[in-house]
Amino acid sequence: MPLNKKDLKGQRIDCNDFSMADFADYRGEDLFEAADYFWEYVADAVKKKYMIYIQPMMSGPRTELKVYDRNTRSVRKFLNFCSYNYLGYSFHPEVIQTVKETLDEFGTGAVSAPLLSGYSEPISRLEQELSRLKGMDSSVVFPTGYSTNVGILSGLLKPGDVAVLDILSHASIYDGVRLSGADIKVFAHNNPSHLERVLRKAGKKRVMVCVEGVYSMDGDLANLPEIIPLCQKYGAKLLVDEAHATLVFGENGGGVAEHFGAENEVDISIGTFSKSFGAIGGFASGEEKLMTYLRMFSRSYVFSCAMAPHTAAGILKVLEIFKKDPSERDRLWDNTRIMHKKLKQAGFDIGNTKSQVVPIMVGSDLRLREISMRIQQRGLYTGVVTYPAVSKNKTRLRLSVSSKHTTDQMDECVHILKQVFSEVKD
Ligand SMILES: Cc1ncc(COP(=O)(O)O)c(C=O)c1O
Repeated sequence: MPLNKKDLKGQRIDCNDFSMADFADYRGEDLFEAADYFWEYVADAVKKKYMIYIQPMMSGPRTELKVYDRNTRSVRKFLNFCSYNYLGYSFHPEVIQTVKETLDEFGTGAVSAPLLSGYSEPISRLEQELSRLKGMDSSVVFPTGYSTNVGILSGLLKPGDVAVLDILSHASIYDGVRLSGADIKVFAHNNPSHLERVLRKAGKKRVMVCVEGVYSMDGDLANLPEIIPLCQKYGAKLLVDEAHATLVFGENGGGVAEHFGAENEVDISIGTFSKSFGAIGGFASGEEKLMTYLRMFSRSYVFSCAMAPHTAAGILKVLEIFKKDPSERDRLWDNTRIMHKKLKQAGFDIGNTKSQVVPIMVGSDLRLREISMRIQQRGLYTGVVTYPAVSKNKTRLRLSVSSKHTTDQMDECVHILKQVFSEVKD
């Protein structure tokens, strides 16, 4: 039902008549009108116990979480299949020890932009290690993964250029291109023949193709073996966002480009520290000349405070541990295979995932609401994904598998999902 001010006058909003998309697209007479309606929508969702977002976590992202549950107004224990702590490194004792020691030496924050006094020695060392990991000349560390894509794309592209995006690209990729003023053209997800048509149409314009190594809402992989030759044929540059793939794919953990033996064919590789590294921040790797230019012209880098030194030191420790002992990643892959198998056997539609990011397709917004409320009542926390993170009616639960999940926890997760999905039909 489209929002209509006249229909709503004097009435209370029933959240079941609306989805998030109605409020995103709504344009009232007054700038704050959408917020007024949204307030009522949320109030009704809270009353109906559907509001499962933004509940305070009372413990860190282990496989069991303590959460303040808004519906019961109590702190409850949940089985956690929601956090991106794929390798559990945020709790590794050596990482924590290193962070503590760096805190004593450097204090709690960088308190300056990197071009001024924010560029700390741990960041400098981290950039060198990341370049080694990616097999690339040079790297730049940003405050977040989001600001990495925004800064790199807006710093590089100009009005009149064309960014050709896989339609499922992350919001930060879209936002970076929008900020640049370049044209956005999309191609159907992982579809090389559609990509070729779009590239042909772009003609002689300067073109940047953007894809994700592992797609963040679907868990499938960029079809690089077919995408790369097309970029080369049409003279387009290629950016691969390896947010969910770094430390998971590739012999050395470099990501999906390395997995396909194509790390030298990628122009810019993006990573985040908010996933397998268990921290926060982002980075871009590429040719040294390019990275030097972008360090000066990416506004989200230049005009934002640098990463805290203790964060950089913790990430360096993660890299050291990862190189010494690959067993954590082996466990992640064992768990990922087990979960794929269990979910498929239970009859769930997990799309085309090839990774630890596992969607469970749900369908309508209403069904998603009912399912997410019930799984939380039974003590399971997962990603609950609706518009604008995915397109309308492509709602899903998203499971993040971790190396730290036990067999019992995986069994329990599938058991709860089976119960709830059988109760809430489409
Ligand atoms: C593919 C992709 N790129 C970028 C980001 C942004 O990263 P961050 O959360 O570290 O800002 C995400 C976050 O989920 C992502 O999935």
